[in-house]
Amino acid sequence: MKILVVGKGAREHALCWRLARSPGVEKVYCAPGNPGINRVAEPVAIAPTDAARLAAFAEQHRIDLTVVGPEEPLVLGIADAFAASALAIFGPTASAARLEASKSFAKQVMRRAGVPTAEFAVFDNLEQARAHVAAAKRPLVIKADGLAMGKGVTVCATAEAALAALDETMAARRFGAAGARVVIEERLYGEELSFFALCDGKTAVPLGFAQDHKPLNDADRGPNTGGMGAYTPVPGCGAELEARVMREVVAPVLRAMAELAAPFKGVLYAGLMLCEGRLNVLEFNVRFGDPECQPMMMRLGGDLAEFLLAAAHGRLDPAARPSLSRRSAVAVVLASAGYPASYRKGLPIRITEPASLGDDADAGCYDESSIEVKLFHAGTAENNGQLVTDGGRVLTVTAAASSLALAAQAAYQAAARIDFPGKQMRSDIARRALEGSFISDRLQAGRIGHGS
Ligand code: AMP
Ligand code: GLY
Repeated sequence: MKILVVGKGAREHALCWRLARSPGVEKVYCAPGNPGINRVAEPVAIAPTDAARLAAFAEQHRIDLTVVGPEEPLVLGIADAFAASALAIFGPTASAARLEASKSFAKQVMRRAGVPTAEFAVFDNLEQARAHVAAAKRPLVIKADGLAMGKGVTVCATAEAALAALDETMAARRFGAAGARVVIEERLYGEELSFFALCDGKTAVPLGFAQDHKPLNDADRGPNTGGMGAYTPVPGCGAELEARVMREVVAPVLRAMAELAAPFKGVLYAGLMLCEGRLNVLEFNVRFGDPECQPMMMRLGGDLAEFLLAAAHGRLDPAARPSLSRRSAVAVVLASAGYPASYRKGLPIRITEPASLGDDADAGCYDESSIEVKLFHAGTAENNGQLVTDGGRVLTVTAAASSLALAAQAAYQAAARIDFPGKQMRSDIARRALEGSFISDRLQAGRIGHGS
């Protein structure tokens, strides 16, 4: 099987690495790739948003399956373009990708499907939105309706903060056209979790839970980012909770999307909030999470390519599911100084042995008594043979081991051997799970009650 992966981040690096190991895969291409990806896949110099040229490439090179990493090409309709040329692609059509591209659409689908989620209202008019905030008696969250690079959500402690967020979003257009419409919702409290399911339009199979760490700094302080680290599995979130999310969230959403003539194919990523016996959906994404994908791929066994191909062709077997090893995996993101705001590029990256990760044909891996460490590249480039920074999130150091504690230790040991000027990273990825300070018996599936 020949595969084309679309994207250039650490998520796509992890996907290329895993797909290249799938038994039936003879070749992996990646458009456009990066210095790490290019060690496991052949780079293709086409932008992820250039659907017409990507489809022409797939036709010419007899690609059996295209796998899309980021949301933007999906929202712009790459799956529609591929379908028009009868090319197999794993990812939703533009109308199904509205689950991520429009928060009001996602909320309406949840309401229609009976999926537990925060109470909400949608506004196109600033004065009406302000009146709604003034009348509300509880803390609110203001969300730009459209895509805003993960920055369009403001969690507000007071009505004044909510009014200010409305002004920023709707009047000052801080997130551009994405803020022409807002969703105002009730603020929820609890633990956030990411859940992933592979979908083929009618059938879904679970991939499992991971936990992201979105704020820049330790103890969840500082500005929100695309994600500074993740781990999987999440203690206390096992088969029962998974079955419940499949039954109460994934299956009803798939049914609702089919009824809306927008059947959902691809990864359904449910951002969940768990608290005091309640399960709520905060948001949907229509792709693998970044960085959650990286530790997930290190636990995944079996033939990922076959699963994604079956999903693309609408023939997932509901009884089969991708096998995840019992290992734990922890991913730590190394970011540029200044990220998530502005940052410099082109700074030299130094990797000290034995973490010469990234130099061997296997994308950089070594095994130390069953501990496996990989360096997935995101914002990197090569300049006269020197690896340099080329983005906000630069690298994801990911380790898998027999326990969460060992995986975290291995990831941090490897991260310490990588340096570039101004390197930022969180030092507490997976710490709360390790301390057991959030997963307790009340989070067990059987005891989690219905939504708000
Ligand atoms: P979203 O892009 O919708 O996931 O929102 C980004 C972040 O805002 C989430 O990861 C949460 O931390 C936070 N958030 C979103 N909705 C709510 C809510 N209703 N209550 C509390 N926090 C929220
Ligand atoms: N890690 C959050 C996201 O991929 O959207």
